[in-house]
Amino acid sequence: MVPDIAKRLIDAGWGISVQSGAGAAAAFTDAAYAEAGVSVAPDPAALLSGAEVVVSVNPPDPTQAGLMPSGVIVLSFLQPAQSAEALAVLAAKGATVFSFDLVPRISRAQSMDALSSQATVSGYRAGLLAAEHLAKFFPMFMTAAGTVPPAKVLVMGVGVAGLQAIATARRLGAVVRAYDVRAAAKEEAESLGATFVDLGISAEGIGGYARELSPEELARQQEALAAVVTASDVVITTASVPGRQAPVLIKEEVVRAMAPGSVVIDLAADNGGNCALTKVGEEVEVDGTTVVGVANPPSQMSTHASLLYARNAANLLALIGRDGAVAPDWDDEIVIGCCVLRDGQPVHGPTAEVLGLPHTPIRPEPAAGDTEGGDG
Ligand code: NAI
Repeated sequence: MVPDIAKRLIDAGWGISVQSGAGAAAAFTDAAYAEAGVSVAPDPAALLSGAEVVVSVNPPDPTQAGLMPSGVIVLSFLQPAQSAEALAVLAAKGATVFSFDLVPRISRAQSMDALSSQATVSGYRAGLLAAEHLAKFFPMFMTAAGTVPPAKVLVMGVGVAGLQAIATARRLGAVVRAYDVRAAAKEEAESLGATFVDLGISAEGIGGYARELSPEELARQQEALAAVVTASDVVITTASVPGRQAPVLIKEEVVRAMAPGSVVIDLAADNGGNCALTKVGEEVEVDGTTVVGVANPPSQMSTHASLLYARNAANLLALIGRDGAVAPDWDDEIVIGCCVLRDGQPVHGPTAEVLGLPHTPIRPEPAAGDTEGGDG
């Protein structure tokens, strides 16, 4: 939460508390929150004890979950498999839990789509990190000492982060090629000035996402990509498939075949990495090529990452309560789509599986006048 958005929420009828120091790493002081009308709590116990709704970036840990009141509503990024213990505590408390990862990718939900806002920050950051790590210019330079060619950048995975990485590398003057397994990515990459690399492997999944490649397809892709990778000064990777480990697109021998001084920026590091040599949060140098495993990339642009996240949260909160009353709109497909626990009951398959409890999906109430059943 950032002070400006907190003020907007307070004006809309919410009471807001943050823990002292919560905004320090993003340049928001306790005094700025207090000035916006936010109450600044000294510790987690004081913060959480009276909370009706808890909004955070990462899911609570079991201790934090234990400090929350019964019936609390929690809103955060959430990987059910990695938060099993905290989810069990919350389920026992009858909590209702929403995950930003599951906000449907529909037009009306774009203002609440924190996956997209944070991916935008990550893609921009990746472009800058690449330029910083490369001991070459990104733009073409025509100088008295002669002409220097532009850097060659390859972006693999042209989702929200990849598109922003392309835009950033282009703004800095690099020549950019882009690769994805979704056909729609070609036009989007080209609209930003990249040349699309078409390997003839298409992997459209459901909901506009990519599907996981078969082992044979992945091997064919790795082989075909090798020549494109080794011809690049910089490779920025962002490929991911929801709910799965990131695909390994660059094998070790391909990194070793890159020209010394080359740079790989792996934005999928937190999810296993797109490069076989990636170590999350570390820079690994192999035969002169640097592989940067970027950990939690939005945290490296904390002020604007926080601003966008706070706006996303405020927009989603508008569907969860209004005029001072907490009352999720259970007929709204966005509310239903991102809910994993409702009053302690798993309403999301993978969460039910993690908790070993029955899955009871939410069905929207039929609107007045709707007739049930039959299509004649
Ligand atoms: P993501 O973070 O899940 O994946 C990043 C990219 O990696 C995707 O473009 C995916 O196709 C690609 N990828 C996966 N496996 C690959 C492989 N083996 N090789 C190469 N590339 C691979 O994607 P993100 O950014 O979350 O976007 C997913 C989809 O959602 C896109 O179609 C995007 O345009 C769409 N979207 C729609 C929005 C809306 O409101 N309508 C908002 C945001 C995204």
